[in-house]
Amino acid sequence: MKIERCVSEDIMRILELDSCIECAWSKDNFIDSFNNGITEFLKATDGEKILGYVGYDVILDEICINNIAVDAAYRRLGIGTELIKQVINNATETGKNRIFLEVNEQNISAIALYKKMGFELLAHRPNYYGKDKNAAVYVKNIAWK
Ligand SMILES: CC(C)(COP(=O)(O)OP(=O)(O)OC[C@H]1O[C@@H](n2cnc3c(N)ncnc32)[C@H](O)[C@@H]1OP(=O)(O)O)[C@@H](O)C(=O)NCCC(=O)NCCS
Repeated sequence: MKIERCVSEDIMRILELDSCIECAWSKDNFIDSFNNGITEFLKATDGEKILGYVGYDVILDEICINNIAVDAAYRRLGIGTELIKQVINNATETGKNRIFLEVNEQNISAIALYKKMGFELLAHRPNYYGKDKNAAVYVKNIAWK
């Protein structure tokens, strides 16, 4: 498996992977993000097949992870871990100070992944995803200095 930068031709596959997420992005959201100069996308590939992806914004000294999804047939194989690891490596190599993300408090698998990767709970956002669907904000400080 390789982790590489996405190219705009990957958008349709990313959309497919993202469709399992409750508040999935639209095709236009992805096209805008590919062109906005602040969002980066990484993909996990096995040959030609994209097995998972992560998208994040780079703003000043911070990174904000917007989305991550792994093909349902390939979960629990460490792909999500490798994608997050690469985001952390990129943050470290470019001197960023912290990585933020928001996640539905009921998304047990994603929260377990983030905690395993050293993210800590920072705040709760009540009803962020709709009535009684709270978000949890997690942060990982980068120890690069
Ligand atoms: C969250 C997601 C990206 C994890 O990807 P993955 O490739 O399966 O993750 P990994 O195999 O690297 O798992 C890493 C750790 O996360 C935790 N984890 C992952 N899936 C889990 C599950 N279903 N239940 C409990 N813990 C889970 C475990 O701690 C796991 O480590 P372990 O296998 O050593 O026990 C994947 O489940 C997914 O695509 N979910 C749908 C999209 C989504 O909800 N994205 C998050 C939006 S914020």
